[in-house]
Amino acid sequence: MLDSIALDNTAPPEQSLSGFVEFAAAEDEIKSAVLDFCDRLAACEVVDHAEQPDHYQGSWRFSLIDGAGVLLQLARPMPREKYETNAYRMVLHASQPSATVTHFFRAAEALPFTDTEMARIRSELPITRKLSERYTDAPLAGLGVILTIHHMTDFLVLAETLLALGADPYHMTVIDKEYSYAFSRRVDSYLRHRCGIRVWKYSELGDGIADHISRLRPSGKRSVIMDDGGYVIPHIAAHTPELLNEFVGLVEQTASGIWRIQGIPLPMPLFSVAESEMKGAIESYGIADAAVRNLLRLLPNEKFEGQPALVLGYGRIGSAMARILRGRRMRVAVYDREIARLVAAHEEGFFTRETLASLLRVHNPMVVFGCAGRGSMTVDQVELLTGASYLVSTTSRDYEFPVAEIRAKAIASQTGVRGTAFTMPSGAQVTVVANGFPINFHHAESLPNRYVDLVLAGLIVGAVAIARGDPRLPDGGSVSACNEMLAESGIMHDYYGLYGPKSCAD
Ligand SMILES: NC(=O)c1ccc[n+]([C@@H]2O[C@H](COP(=O)([O-])OP(=O)(O)OC[C@H]3O[C@@H](n4cnc5c(N)ncnc54)[C@H](O)[C@@H]3O)[C@@H](O)[C@H]2O)c1
Repeated sequence: MLDSIALDNTAPPEQSLSGFVEFAAAEDEIKSAVLDFCDRLAACEVVDHAEQPDHYQGSWRFSLIDGAGVLLQLARPMPREKYETNAYRMVLHASQPSATVTHFFRAAEALPFTDTEMARIRSELPITRKLSERYTDAPLAGLGVILTIHHMTDFLVLAETLLALGADPYHMTVIDKEYSYAFSRRVDSYLRHRCGIRVWKYSELGDGIADHISRLRPSGKRSVIMDDGGYVIPHIAAHTPELLNEFVGLVEQTASGIWRIQGIPLPMPLFSVAESEMKGAIESYGIADAAVRNLLRLLPNEKFEGQPALVLGYGRIGSAMARILRGRRMRVAVYDREIARLVAAHEEGFFTRETLASLLRVHNPMVVFGCAGRGSMTVDQVELLTGASYLVSTTSRDYEFPVAEIRAKAIASQTGVRGTAFTMPSGAQVTVVANGFPINFHHAESLPNRYVDLVLAGLIVGAVAIARGDPRLPDGGSVSACNEMLAESGIMHDYYGLYGPKSCAD
């Protein structure tokens, strides 16, 4: 097949590249979905020209500006019984590597979700979607929204619900945290091309905020911040504090976001889903479970049962993690710098010591799960590890482990999708899984959508409360007021109705 196209046939086979995007589509949408997308690819800056050979409707040739060629074919994956009936694969072949080929392959990953896929994703977040029926007065019509929520499929339903509640896509900005999510580029493409929302990268945070404000100013609107990790306020407070007036309130989804804004005077209401009873009740177990599941997926040939594990930080996520690892038959040690939490871990039967160094000397873990936040392990403590071990984080960005210091002391060998393996001066092998970024997002979708639905709905309840100027929310926030508003919003009843025990009448 490849011989028939205008690629460089003299390239040795190992130089040729292939890639694919798997997706689902109904019979009646497949053609338009792929044609639209190929039209967009044809307009990509590295494409010189594109053609679709007449004899075969399902393939396209893209000639790139440096002379390289890429063949794109639409195919059904085989064997058929291993896939859903509506599964397709968009397969790419290039005869030789080049910078333009890499660019084109990345552009081709940005296939927006099809109607079939969106119908499934929407069906997985009924509680979030129902809010557009509950709040019928377009409460967000008068506000801009800036969001730093994870680029996962659940976020698309959050964004669509904000639009349904009156938010204008032109007055919305998404900051992409640039984690390696499973579907980062597909999510990004849907936000930009289907929802019409502007997306900026985390590495361009300042420019993204400035662009947001400049789009809002002519309308006289102010904005609500929907943050996940304290990205926006610390940046504005440090660089452009005069812009704080442009915001009417902050909804924060995670504990590290609350820590990051501590000490910054907040001249606006804070709706802390992060500290709510609701989030504490359901999410920590889900995160720990998603983290362990993704580690098992990345290390399918490791034997965990009977091996030593160490959990750093025995808070909400760490305590759930320790229990899950014990359930997986690991020998689990715990360290927390707070004596009350250390005692709690000890009382629950976990192996503990009063210092991390003494614990490491006697326990020698195969896996260290960092659930503390920041600074839970120094490089000297990493050097106490012997044999082969994995450092795995659940904390935002790469804040948990001293990755730069490990890199400076050790010899690194890249291991691809798992992260980076280091040989320490002692000869010990330490693999920093996901390069220190939270494992549950690493080429994964973290919690199932049905699980996270309640938390996303909680973020919207917060945004609406801020938009309406609910007098119970003071500047700086009140956790008890958030708990009250989340309880009265009805979303937890919805969750219980969906996933709680069914009555006899059912
Ligand atoms: N990956 C995700 O999806 C996700 C989601 C939410 C939160 N998080 C992050 O996970 C981390 C843990 O969250 P949490 O809700 O369990 O927090 P938490 O406050 O309930 O628990 C943190 C625990 O770590 C302990 N600790 C803090 N610093 C320590 C140190 N240097 N050494 C040992 N122990 C230390 C604290 O005493 C506390 O018991 C945070 O960084 C949070 O932002 C991740």
